Amino acid sequence: MSATHLRVLLPAAQIHSRIAEMGAEIDRDYAPSEPVYLIGVLKGACIFLADLARAMKTPTRLEFIGISSYGRGKTSSGQVRITKDLDVPVEGHHVILVEDILDTGVTLTYLVKMMAQRKPKTLRVATFLDKPERRQSPVKVDYVGFQIPDEFVVGYGLDYAEDYRNLRDLCVLEQ
Ligand code: IMP
Ligand code: MG
Repeated sequence: MSATHLRVLLPAAQIHSRIAEMGAEIDRDYAPSEPVYLIGVLKGACIFLADLARAMKTPTRLEFIGISSYGRGKTSSGQVRITKDLDVPVEGHHVILVEDILDTGVTLTYLVKMMAQRKPKTLRVATFLDKPERRQSPVKVDYVGFQIPDEFVVGYGLDYAEDYRNLRDLCVLEQ
């Protein structure tokens, strides 16, 4: 087995100050009179979603959708499969899809299309990370935490074979 090494790319403090800004950006776009449904894509987005929701003053409802596209490796299978659907209808509500990372764009393309069919009042996308170099399928995102280079990252919710999700910093996994 080759040794693995973690190199910090985004320290926790930098992540938290950016998420505070993102929360303020989102608050400017919505009226406080109606809740915004934050739909977290399991499992990677759960930590980002928890921090983003608390950075917002707009009332939120938290929902989750489970998908599998990556298996245990570092490259996408290119196939998206729903493993857990929403528990509630979102028709007529403001929805923000909350993702950990936008990579090839295959996952979000699929999810945006699927969510649009459920007739939300508005539909936007927030992603913690964006790796623009890897895009295969163009996706319009409304809120981006950080653009990062084409490196495999773990921590702050992101995993490699289910490990490293609880790291506070975002790290590059070097092998
Ligand atoms: P896409 O469909 O290629 O855009 O892939 C998005 C999904 O791939 C994300 O939700 C992640 O689960 C996974 N992914 C892509 N890049 C990374 C990475 O660098 N680290 C961990 N997971 C990643
Ligand atoms: Mg993943």
